[in-house]
Amino acid sequence: MEISQLIRPNILSLEPYHSAREKVQEGILLDANESPFSCQWNGVSLNRYPDPYQRTLRAALADYTGLSPEQVLAGAGSDEVLDWIFKVFCNPSRDEVAVAEPTYGMYRVMADIYDVRLHSFPLDENYALRAGEFLSTAPPRVKVMFLCSPNNPTGNLLERDEILRLCSQWRGVVVVDEAYVEFSEEASLAGALGQFPNLILLRTLSKAFGSAALRLGYACASPQITSCFLKVKAPYNLNAITMKRGQEALGDRKIVEQQVALIKQERERVAGCLQEIGGVEKVFPSSSNFLLFRCRSASEVYRRLFEEGIVIRDRSEGPRTRGCLRVTIGLPQENDLFLARVAKYLEVLKQ
Ligand SMILES: Cc1ncc(COP(=O)(O)O)c(C=O)c1O
Repeated sequence: MEISQLIRPNILSLEPYHSAREKVQEGILLDANESPFSCQWNGVSLNRYPDPYQRTLRAALADYTGLSPEQVLAGAGSDEVLDWIFKVFCNPSRDEVAVAEPTYGMYRVMADIYDVRLHSFPLDENYALRAGEFLSTAPPRVKVMFLCSPNNPTGNLLERDEILRLCSQWRGVVVVDEAYVEFSEEASLAGALGQFPNLILLRTLSKAFGSAALRLGYACASPQITSCFLKVKAPYNLNAITMKRGQEALGDRKIVEQQVALIKQERERVAGCLQEIGGVEKVFPSSSNFLLFRCRSASEVYRRLFEEGIVIRDRSEGPRTRGCLRVTIGLPQENDLFLARVAKYLEVLKQ
């Protein structure tokens, strides 16, 4: 399968905007109508435009993922990468996409924004991917399939072999959102990128790296795809502060590893405690930093927690997550308070 056949022809032939800081970043810079007066903030020079090619950051991301700098490109959160995917592959009102639901809601919102029809392929009753069923029923206009592994809001990993089966047997683009991969027991699919030119991974510093406010996510894909992303992204999509802080965070992995280990430990403890609470019907296995659980009177439990300032996510109305709530793993004392209140409300609501 030739990936260029999936890329919109206008993007293939697009002559992108050439920005001033593309080639030169040092010297007597009189080319970009910037201010000549130095303006520094925490060691970051602010009067000059930042590097549109994100060279230093991409080198750090390449080092972290084990890929080459040409295989990675960063956006203002991985949500920006979703935007590039629609721009590069989907002709509005003509091309179509698919998602394996229940899953992260942003894929659907993006499809609506771009006026791209979205087909929902249900995960099975254990929230597992059924690649065979998708392969035999995918409508011909579907160009991109969005998967999320570990999946939000269910928490489970999709089976690696099923994903790779899609990559090898389907002629479309397979996007795997790995926002929570650092919390899982399985490695990223980054190692499979060389084998599958139709695979795109979404990663982020918003979760394990504890940097949601930075707005730093990235795509991992073939150089052919990342070069199209470079064409469609705003030239200076990332500011210099975000890039510098991102590079530092990527170099500071010991702290991240320690925090991830603590969250995983807490996840198992909270899951065990939830299971013991009368009225909690099921706690779903999780490879992420949150838990999905089904309980009696779910939306009432949610409401009472909310009134006490304990905010979790109500998923009880979703067709595939009926009666379910999703809770993020917090600090041990926050988790304790959450558990105590859930136990209390479920006891009260029994009467
Ligand atoms: C599966 C998934 N992907 C992506 C994101 C957003 O990532 P970012 O903050 O990098 O835009 C989220 C946020 O909750 C998510 O759950």
